[in-house]
Amino acid sequence: ADGSVEIPVIVNVIYKSSAENVSDARIAEQIAVLNADYSGTNSDASKIPSEFLPVSSGDTKVKFRLVNTVRKSTTKTSWSTNDDMKKASKGGIDATNPSNYLNIWVVGKMTSQGRTILGYATFPESAGLWNDGVVIGAPYFGKTGASSPFNLGRTATHEVGHYLNLRHIWGDANCGNDLVSDTPTQTTANYGKPTYPLYNTCSGVQRSVMFMNYMDYVDDGAMFMFSAGQKTRMQSVVASTGLRSGL
Ligand code: ARG
Ligand code: ZN
Ligand code: CA
Repeated sequence: ADGSVEIPVIVNVIYKSSAENVSDARIAEQIAVLNADYSGTNSDASKIPSEFLPVSSGDTKVKFRLVNTVRKSTTKTSWSTNDDMKKASKGGIDATNPSNYLNIWVVGKMTSQGRTILGYATFPESAGLWNDGVVIGAPYFGKTGASSPFNLGRTATHEVGHYLNLRHIWGDANCGNDLVSDTPTQTTANYGKPTYPLYNTCSGVQRSVMFMNYMDYVDDGAMFMFSAGQKTRMQSVVASTGLRSGL
């Protein structure tokens, strides 16, 4: 493939309460959010600041198609990032053919170092392994019934970005490197709903921060773009020469 791809998706739902057993409608809603965000047809793309329009991705040429939903009930109330939800032997659900499908696991609650997390993902280096895919907490999956301010389905948009080789926009360090040249260097993560423009200085250079990028940590309603450089990085991964060519 040239980098344009329709990724087949398996959604694995592991639930204790009925609220955690997200409905088929909510799963469809989440897939629709991924398709809108990755094609640049999200309604809030109109909010992209004009200074960033020249470097916005537009259509990343990555699409998503739900192929199956697997459900399992559990007595577990909390999960960690140790991948137990991906093991049937630990009360989870084994991945379906991870070389060829994006597996998404939805669990009720997840913590890391004592704090609730919204989701986590494997990078392309894990392609095809038993633990390859994306995990999302049920309150942050889909839109209807999800938990504000993370109720627009963007946790999946963010985590799938990691799955397709994107780093956090601040490079996980003070003025770190996200390996994408058109995303301005950023001191740190942003949270909440920052007001545009927001400036920061790295190595003596003041820049306007692209906090509305899906790979920052802002609220779902405050993130609405990928950059062209991020698109290139994702396309390389799904291309015939890329680590995820099996999708
Ligand atoms: N990996 C991040 C976390 O742990 C997900 C951030 C998603 N951000 C969002 N606005 N949905 O929690
Ligand atoms: Zn992240
Ligand atoms: Ca950058």
